[in-house]
Amino acid sequence: MSESLYFPESGLKSDKYEAILPQIEALVQGEPDLTANLANVAAVLKEAFGFFWVGFYLVKENQLVLGPFQGPIACTRISMGKGVCGTAWKERKTQLVPDVDAFPGHIACSSASKSEIVVPGFQEDTVWCVLDVDSDQLNDFDEIDQQYLEKLMSRLDELLFR
Ligand code: SME
Repeated sequence: MSESLYFPESGLKSDKYEAILPQIEALVQGEPDLTANLANVAAVLKEAFGFFWVGFYLVKENQLVLGPFQGPIACTRISMGKGVCGTAWKERKTQLVPDVDAFPGHIACSSASKSEIVVPGFQEDTVWCVLDVDSDQLNDFDEIDQQYLEKLMSRLDELLFR
């Protein structure tokens, strides 16, 4: 396993995503433990982008339960349809939230969080987790983040479960 990540420090964020995706694949390949793999994925995203909070909530007994993450302490359980994460789970689609205060029912784990993107992960056709990324800046995520984070979650489905 490589000890270091390589990505461009500046420039287009798409270049950074392009650089980290194969490194995430390499990290995950050959390691069967789900927690270990999700922990490393969160760490890569944190190191590459410096996100305020990045992590996973896993579907367990009909709730989302906090999984591996990087950042400040966070809410541990979220019901289906609640908050941005529960909405992504219920609607089975990415939630891109430029201003969390404008999102009805947003769950504020930290008052410093200003914008957020939540991407569901599918195993076959069932949502098994969501990837949640928070920023302390308004309007910090766009379609580029959505495109690459959805690609990442789709690759994780292939790498973790097949
Ligand atoms: N803001 C999320 C809760 C999780 S934290 O941001 C880590 C939500 O509304 O679902």
